[in-house]
Amino acid sequence: MKAIVYTEYGLPEVFQLKEVEKPAPKDKEILIRIYATSVNIGDIWARNFKEISPRKFTMPLPLWLPSRMYFGFKKPRIHILGNEFAGEIEAIGKDVKRFRKGDQVFGYRGQSMGAYAEYLCMPEDGLVALKPVNMTYEEAAAVPYGALTALNLLRKVTIQPGQRVLINGASGAIGSAAVQLARYFGAEVTGVCGSTRLEFVKSLGADKVIDYIREDFTQNSETYDLIFDILGKSSLSRCKRSLKQNGIYLLASFKMKQLFQMLSTSVTGGKRVICALSSESPEDLLFIKELVEAGKIKSIIDRCYPMEQIAEAHRYFEKGYKTGSVIITVAHNNKKEQL
Ligand SMILES: NC(=O)c1ccc[n+]([C@@H]2O[C@H](COP(=O)([O-])OP(=O)(O)OC[C@H]3O[C@@H](n4cnc5c(N)ncnc54)[C@H](OP(=O)(O)O)[C@@H]3O)[C@@H](O)[C@H]2O)c1
Repeated sequence: MKAIVYTEYGLPEVFQLKEVEKPAPKDKEILIRIYATSVNIGDIWARNFKEISPRKFTMPLPLWLPSRMYFGFKKPRIHILGNEFAGEIEAIGKDVKRFRKGDQVFGYRGQSMGAYAEYLCMPEDGLVALKPVNMTYEEAAAVPYGALTALNLLRKVTIQPGQRVLINGASGAIGSAAVQLARYFGAEVTGVCGSTRLEFVKSLGADKVIDYIREDFTQNSETYDLIFDILGKSSLSRCKRSLKQNGIYLLASFKMKQLFQMLSTSVTGGKRVICALSSESPEDLLFIKELVEAGKIKSIIDRCYPMEQIAEAHRYFEKGYKTGSVIITVAHNNKKEQL
């Protein structure tokens, strides 16, 4: 099969489209013919992990070393990136019960990666589910990472209908899903993003948008029950006055400092900090699929690139121009109707 392989860390030019061995499903695995995968921040970092110093790493220092060991110190240990996928089941192992050959599926590989390829094996009880019927493969491949992460992190707090929620970083993969999920939970949502993506965030259902280039949301008099900061660009000291009395400052990207703030605010009560790592389950993916089919979550694609243009796709993502998702389409000679 064809796969996008890299054996050296570096710029997007490190990718090579190569013939590699096609995987075969084990007894409890499904073999998926991939039609679409995506470029997200995980792929960008893993492609050049040797450049991710502890300072650049957006997680606490104790997690940097295991991540570096996992991805490889001098050279990558994983040679095929891609953590989101959508495709069709081509074969199933003899003990598979949940799926059938021909099922259209979508899913998430997390750090295991491997979706930049024509085929992929997944355990049947892994993060894989039937593709939402109202999405193309390309649209479905853009959903799992952002939606699963946003759902998991938002579940660390309980959003009550009518609460006021601010999402800082609302135009990215996690933020755009968080806007839609917070709306689904009944919140009044303010999305903070750059000037060129204000309309995009509004189109996701945000009640209000703030351009972080023109306005510092911590300086107006608005207050929120929840401030969800995806990149950790704000700080507790700056956000305090924008939080209601028992408001929560939820962080997807955080360091040891914020972990200590979480500890201390859990003791003092009142305004609290919550930092969390998402831990996704197949049930979460099914829930996301249902929300997509109910029209509560949509995915907006910025650009699609064929596998041959993977380097261009990574360059486009890294320039920070994307509005929505960057998708890699995987061509097969016998591609079927999508919907
Ligand atoms: N806790 C967890 O379990 C977990 C899991 C996965 C990822 N993460 C973390 O999530 C982060 C990646 O999130 P993502 O995939 O959603 O990233 P992304 O798709 O690259 O989006 C990031 C967004 O942040 C916005 N942004 C940039 N500068 C900003 C600023 N000063 N103020 C407000 N917004 C700003 C950008 O908006 P504009 O383009 O509009 O400027 C961009 O759309 C990483 O730091 C990663 O470590 C955490």
